[in-house]
Parts: sequence; C-alpha cells; structure tokens
Amino acid sequence: MVVHTLISPKPQNTASTATLEVRGKDAVADGVVSLVLARPDGGRLPDWTPGSHIDLVLPEGITRQYSLCGDRWDPYTYRIAVLREPGGRGGSAYVHDRLAPGDLVDVGGPRGNFPLVPADRYVFVAGGIGITPLLPMIHQAELMGVAWQLLYGGRTRASMAFREELARTYGDRVHIVPQDECGLLDLASWLSVPDAGTKVYCCGPAPLLAAVERACSAWPAHSLRTERFAAAEQPAPARTAPFQVELRRTGTTVTVTPDLSVLQAARRAGADILSSCEQGTCGTCLTPVLEGVPDHRDTLLADHERAANDRMFPCVSRSRGDRLVLDL
Ligand code: FES
Repeated sequence: MVVHTLISPKPQNTASTATLEVRGKDAVADGVVSLVLARPDGGRLPDWTPGSHIDLVLPEGITRQYSLCGDRWDPYTYRIAVLREPGGRGGSAYVHDRLAPGDLVDVGGPRGNFPLVPADRYVFVAGGIGITPLLPMIHQAELMGVAWQLLYGGRTRASMAFREELARTYGDRVHIVPQDECGLLDLASWLSVPDAGTKVYCCGPAPLLAAVERACSAWPAHSLRTERFAAAEQPAPARTAPFQVELRRTGTTVTVTPDLSVLQAARRAGADILSSCEQGTCGTCLTPVLEGVPDHRDTLLADHERAANDRMFPCVSRSRGDRLVLDL
C-alpha cells in the first residue's frame, strides 16, 4: 500500500521565520501542553489549512515541527500541542520545562503537507498526539457538512489530548478508545468495507499507521492519507558513490559523500535551508530540483510526484546519477 500524501504543486524552501509570543500554555493531557502563539504586535498571522504545521526554532539549533490544531479562521493566533518525549532530542523538554507565557520563539511556516481533500465522507483515525492535525480537519468537515467519524486511541484516557473538547463538541461521532480500558482500535470493523467515496486520514505512531495501511489494503488508490511521526524504513541508497550537487542560486557545487546528506553538504556550502525532522517526514526542507534524478527517500511524496523529479527532500533524499542541480 503506497502512502499518498500530496505536496504543494509549487515546491519551495524558505528559511524565513517570524518571532511569535507565547500567549498561553496549558496542560491538555498527561504529558501534553498546548501553546497559543501570536505576533507580539497583535497583527495577523499567515493563513493555513487543516493538516498544516509550523516549525518551532528553539535554542541550540533545535527545530521541531508541530501540527496546527487551533481554529484556522482565527487569523491572530496559532495553537499547537506538544507531547513530552523522554527519549527525544530536547525540543519537547524545552517546551514543557522552559518556554513560558510572554516568551518569544521563532516560528517557521506554516506549511501544508497533509491536505484535506474533498470526499463524501471521512474516517479520521488518531493515535495519541496524532489527534492534532485531525482537529482542524474535523472542524473543516463539519463546516462543509460532510459526514465524518473519529476513531481516537491512546494509552490511557488521561493521556488523550482534547478528548473532552471533542466529546463535548461532537458527541457520538467521536469514539474514544483508551488502550488500558478497551484494548487496541478495532480497525477491522471500521475499515473492512472499502468505500470509494470515503477518505481515511490517519496520524499516529508507526504501528498504528501500519495497521491502518493493512486494513485499507483493498481500498481504492488514494483512499488513505497518513502523517507519520517517524520515518518508514527505506531501501539502501540507489548509489553509494559520491555525487555532485550544484546549488544554482548559491553559485557553488558541492560533493556529497556517503556519510553526508545533501542537506548537510549544501549547508556547509552556505545554502540557507530550513529543516525540522531531518527524517523525510515533515516536508520542511522541500527543495526544487532543476536537473538530475533524485533518489527519493522521504515518506511524503506520492508516486506521481516522485516521478516528476522536480522536487526533493535533501535531508534524506540523494541522487541516482552523478549530478543534481538544486534551486538553492
Ligand atoms: Fe523534514 Fe526534510 S527536514 S522532510
């Protein structure tokens, strides 16, 4: 089953950021805080669509990607929710322990790599903090008058962010399934009958995504759309020999050896590229390809987007040939 997550038809990479102020910080579940961000001058923020994320640029060069989970029709604030990840690289700990109302934080984006496409009906499947990109999608489906249901699993009831908000607002269309009370999500009964008019959106940990992909294996192509927390396993690179990357706008050519990513090599040569996950899962480093054939190693591009060879994610993707030319 191919994962279909469509990318904007206009590839771009921008390192532009804005400095926003933390206007609110609340615990919304065990180990999860929500942040409300706004411009210090109270001005309008860039528009976004459901499924979009922003990058928090934290001290010591840490950049982390978080889905926007507030009201997309509120032009003055962004809301995100951050799960504390004890084994993480320090980004969530900083947000939990140090970032406070009144602090300023640099923010990149928003970027939309997980768009809500038209459908007759939606089934939303969330695992844990994977609820965040689905919240504005649910709101959008509601505004459009499209039927939907949410299957929301989590470790425990207390660990499930926005559980009460969802149940209060949407009633029995929300199915809360804490694992310690009810076991795993019953995907077989929810997804057993393929329906050409239904789109399935899933965000959560890798085992949940794999289970949903299996459950949807008989569904029509493009029925399932997923957003991953972590990179899927990739085959070995198409080539192990070094290759050249010309950075057309920077005006230089770099050699990418097997121990370097294209992103690292381009940065060493002075290219200004924003990145976040560096695992090919977030879309932040999307870069236009002017010449050459990338060895796509991300989990974002659909098959036809890979075949176009006009964009790549240089944090993980490499080259099939001797040379690539990037619009950097
Ligand atoms: Fe996330 Fe490259 S930094 S896809």
